[in-house]
Amino acid sequence: MNHDDALLRELNIYPLWLRRDVQVEAPPVAVAPPQPAPPEPEMKRTAAPPAPAAIQPSPYADLGWSELKQKVTDCTACKLRPTCTQTVFGVGDEQADWMIVGEGPGADEDIKGEPFVGQAGKLLDNMLAAIKLKRGDNVYIGNIVKCRPPGNRTPEPDEIAQCLPYLRRQIELIRPKLIVALGKTAATSLLGRDAALGSLRGHLHEFDGIPLIITYHPAYLLRSPTEKAKAWQDLCLAVATLQGMAEQ
Ligand code: URA
Repeated sequence: MNHDDALLRELNIYPLWLRRDVQVEAPPVAVAPPQPAPPEPEMKRTAAPPAPAAIQPSPYADLGWSELKQKVTDCTACKLRPTCTQTVFGVGDEQADWMIVGEGPGADEDIKGEPFVGQAGKLLDNMLAAIKLKRGDNVYIGNIVKCRPPGNRTPEPDEIAQCLPYLRRQIELIRPKLIVALGKTAATSLLGRDAALGSLRGHLHEFDGIPLIITYHPAYLLRSPTEKAKAWQDLCLAVATLQGMAEQ
């Protein structure tokens, strides 16, 4: 089995998807036809559904990278900071075309101070590799909240509202060509409205004029591997969207 075959197996899309479908040079625009929304995946151990946060203009518009990082490090604006080990700012290429947005740090990220370094992160790295991307190279990875919610619960609306301006400033500084939101919390926080993830994926959205693709969170995909094929479709839509922009 070569490396690409191994990646496709990891994504659970082998041998359904042939090698030619992976080529970034000519990706299939394999957007799923409109489907009834499947039951909403439970992202983390919580009963409370994530509520959308109203997106405010960044109050940090005058901050550069180092000031913004310091601001996040020093932040005590919500109840998450006292229970986490450290803030997790984000990682990657600060001039990336691709920005990946997750929900918030988990236990591994809380220890290491870097997003997506646990099992979900390994799957994310494999998903990126399947479209010939790698962490840190033309990709920036961040989260909606910078502090680990206790017990990995979903961040609450007030926590999201406090933290979102940091992400907004990161996006303003990077100006990525495309944002990929992983999971319902990331998606609804960026969109500023609640909706079932299944109704959001497979379509092109927008955040502040930047194309936004929504797909399943890797942690959910680890629990529901049969959904990986849909995540693959979403990645193909993302690649096709960027290619379409390049051709304009
Ligand atoms: N899940 C997330 O949403 N973000 C991380 O950084 C890790 C796990």
